[in-house]
Amino acid sequence: MGQAGNGPRPRRSVLYMPGSNARALEKAKTLDVDALIFDLEDAVAPEAKATAREQVASAVKGGGYGHRELIIRINGLTSEWGRADLDAAIAAKPDAIALPKVNGPVDLKLVAGIMQAQGADPAIKLWAMLETPLAMLNAKSICLAAREESSRLEAVVMGTNDLSKETGTHITKGRAEMMPWLMLCLAAARAAGISIIDGVYNNFSDIEGFSEECTQGARMGMDGKTLIHPSQIDACNSAFAPSDEAVHWARKVIAAFEAPENAGKGVLQVDGKMVERLHAEMGQKVVAIADAIAARAG
Ligand code: COA
Ligand code: MG
Repeated sequence: MGQAGNGPRPRRSVLYMPGSNARALEKAKTLDVDALIFDLEDAVAPEAKATAREQVASAVKGGGYGHRELIIRINGLTSEWGRADLDAAIAAKPDAIALPKVNGPVDLKLVAGIMQAQGADPAIKLWAMLETPLAMLNAKSICLAAREESSRLEAVVMGTNDLSKETGTHITKGRAEMMPWLMLCLAAARAAGISIIDGVYNNFSDIEGFSEECTQGARMGMDGKTLIHPSQIDACNSAFAPSDEAVHWARKVIAAFEAPENAGKGVLQVDGKMVERLHAEMGQKVVAIADAIAARAG
């Protein structure tokens, strides 16, 4: 499932599927999402854990998911299922393994160490769920673990439902109470140069409220959002893709700095607005992600 070319990898829409739901695993092959999380943890009842593990391993091995990035979320290693999940995931070779309830960098190290010892394919990355009070306090050290390639860490995912459960903090419209943690984790992810995916919106019948939360997440700087239902995909993809206006503006700013008459200038005006070279650099990123999304659709 490697990334074609060296451009950025769009991670706008990241859909969870209960590993026990065979129909969902099959349907996902036709859904317009950037990534799929095959869940063995919270969405799977204890009696269904073993079946889910087998089903997910065989779906990932079987392929047929095209450009979609495939992630297996295992149970924590302290649970009775964690180690068997990890072994099955290593053998299935997804793009990444997602670890729930990471409290600190030690939790990542433990898993990366086992993977190393098992001779896991180096292409299998780790995604860390940030969803406990300790993870909020340790967001920096968790994310900065990515500086060592041996950590395999490539993305973090906000687990807002667990966070709400563990802290007593409510998730309200506009998410004012959660915002300090979300933004703290965002800064930590950016400092480490890894992706950060926003938490889920539980009311999948409320597409309007969901769209607002997508727009908010995109403005906050999130790369994308985790989803629970196919009805959420379209609004999510459009909210996290650069708008046509944004791409147009980015190209204009890039062109202005590339114009021979502006060589050596650090600051210019475009359409009556001040732009600095940093805006051209931001523009390059916008164009790169828009190109990657266009290549995917085509
Ligand atoms: N991934 C892929 N397909 C899904 C899906 C998902 N997460 N959720 C629903 N679908 C499919 C259904 O299989 C159904 O397909 P069909 O028309 O081919 O039969 C279709 O979408 C419509 O589903 P619907 O009947 O509206 O939903 P439901 O009542 O079957 O399921 C949930 C509702 C919430 C139980 C289900 O969406 C779900 O399990 N979501 C993921 C939950 C999860 O993984 N949580 C963990 C992290 S928070
Ligand atoms: Mg959870």
